[in-house]
Amino acid sequence: MMAKEKRGMRRGLTAYGDEDFSLFLRTAFIKAMGYSDDALDRPIVGITNTFSGFNACHRNVPELIEAVKRGVMLAGGLPVEFPTITLHESFAHPTSMFLRNLMSMDTEEMIRAQPVDSTVLIGGCDKTVPALLMGAASADVPAIMLVTGPMITGDHKGERLGACTDCRRFWARFRAGEIDQPEMKEIEAKLAPSAGTCMVMGTASTMACVTEAMGMMLPGGACIPAVMAERLRNAEATGARAVAIAKEKLTPSRIMTADAFENGLRMLLAIGGSTNAIVHMAAMAGRLGIELDLEGFDRMGRDTPVLVDLKPTGQHYMEDLDKAGGVTTILRELMPQLKLKALTITGKTLGQNIKAAPAGWKQEVVRPFNNPIFKGGSIAVLRGNLAPDGAIVKQAAASPKLMQHEGRAVVFDSLPDMAARIDSPDLDVTPNDILVLRNAGPIGAPGMPEAGYIPIPKKLAQKGLKDMLRMSDARMSGTAFGAIVLHITPESAVGGPLALVQNGDRIRLDVKNRKLELLVSDEELAVRRKKWKAPKPRKGDERGYRKLFMDTVQQADKGCDFEFLTAPLTKRTPSAKR
Ligand code: FES
Repeated sequence: MMAKEKRGMRRGLTAYGDEDFSLFLRTAFIKAMGYSDDALDRPIVGITNTFSGFNACHRNVPELIEAVKRGVMLAGGLPVEFPTITLHESFAHPTSMFLRNLMSMDTEEMIRAQPVDSTVLIGGCDKTVPALLMGAASADVPAIMLVTGPMITGDHKGERLGACTDCRRFWARFRAGEIDQPEMKEIEAKLAPSAGTCMVMGTASTMACVTEAMGMMLPGGACIPAVMAERLRNAEATGARAVAIAKEKLTPSRIMTADAFENGLRMLLAIGGSTNAIVHMAAMAGRLGIELDLEGFDRMGRDTPVLVDLKPTGQHYMEDLDKAGGVTTILRELMPQLKLKALTITGKTLGQNIKAAPAGWKQEVVRPFNNPIFKGGSIAVLRGNLAPDGAIVKQAAASPKLMQHEGRAVVFDSLPDMAARIDSPDLDVTPNDILVLRNAGPIGAPGMPEAGYIPIPKKLAQKGLKDMLRMSDARMSGTAFGAIVLHITPESAVGGPLALVQNGDRIRLDVKNRKLELLVSDEELAVRRKKWKAPKPRKGDERGYRKLFMDTVQQADKGCDFEFLTAPLTKRTPSAKR
């Protein structure tokens, strides 16, 4: 009765000890959905439904699903949507990062559990794209990414507004007393004016561009705004291609290779992208047994210019980048530095895709390679006795004069401590000091919140101070701007040197030489280490997903993935010495 090939309805049968019976039962139940035998004999394309009433970035998912289904059926497949966890940045307590691995596990197991010959992964908001790709990579069933697309910009008194760079900018002005409450209420209604993801080069836009450069998305798919008709045509084409990759057995492991990650890292640097992408890419790579080499990434950064003039580092927004030709325009400039032979979801190489794209035109969003916005090292990797396993700083989004700086530490022991004291008139702080936040890492917070964008203390903000050196074991939103050192590893909660910093200690940041040093003697640090006590477990740490997280989450340099989800490491990327 059963064909030998395990495709379509025959994949991953429920275990009853009799496969023919399992298939009979499955077919009987799916027929209750009204499908014919002809439909059920087609390649089955799963579609992840990541819609939620809490996720405005995914507001257009239902119509994207309709368009994907159309594409699947036009290509002779049977589309079947299924739900997975969805994550929106502002609706994920304690942080969306805390839940990213849960979403990846959900995606992996549902792809494996259900009879899908390929899957269209619909994501958009920051953590959803890496979570879907991590899950799909581990399941290793053919998969193709479709993003919801960026929002279009808002407008306030003749000024273009974008989430969330301008959310932070206006909040800082509100804190400094430059804007009153009624005006903030007006702005609140204009910052996120449509469906879609944040329209600056935050994490969502970064991950979309990186995914396209890595070849897991159709060319041109990253930048089309969520509300455009072209977004639906892109979804339809994605559905059609999903049928083809099912037949071609084009699995994620064939596309997400070390070379593809190198292309993704190039893109991250050239767009001046979000620092969060490093964590996500390390996690994605780890699922495929590839180690993301931070030193190699730093070397790569030194010769990769920032070409894209987009907020928060530049002027434009994602809809402008789309009009300028999107990711292809960037790839064309980067061609001499790319691994052009890397296979992509089209079944062709990255180089072939670039050549097949329409010719470029005069535009002002993507600079030519030899006339960049920022010459190189947009994201620098730091080491030193304060960060033995690394820390990062996004130079391209910081005040240049603070990139070489020595100052006095003003320490906040936790997020609640910072919230309680940062605006106190009694806080002993000057513009030359360094704000240090700890216990805000993967385990310390938990979930490594985007708290690295430590606010300028009110008493300094009111005097007009716009930037000062800040550092922590936390992350930062890709939409933020400032002289901010992030991802200090190991984090404070596991006894990293950050735990030993005291008020008044001197710290030296030397980005030119990639150094982050706590200027305290080894002897003194040894004395402090003896006295250090790990933070006490919190209520809730002892059970459920949180216990799994606390027990198995890795540090930022390993992508904050759970140890047991990674594959044995066999490769490193970027591979070559530069
Ligand atoms: Fe979803 Fe910014 S909140 S992309």
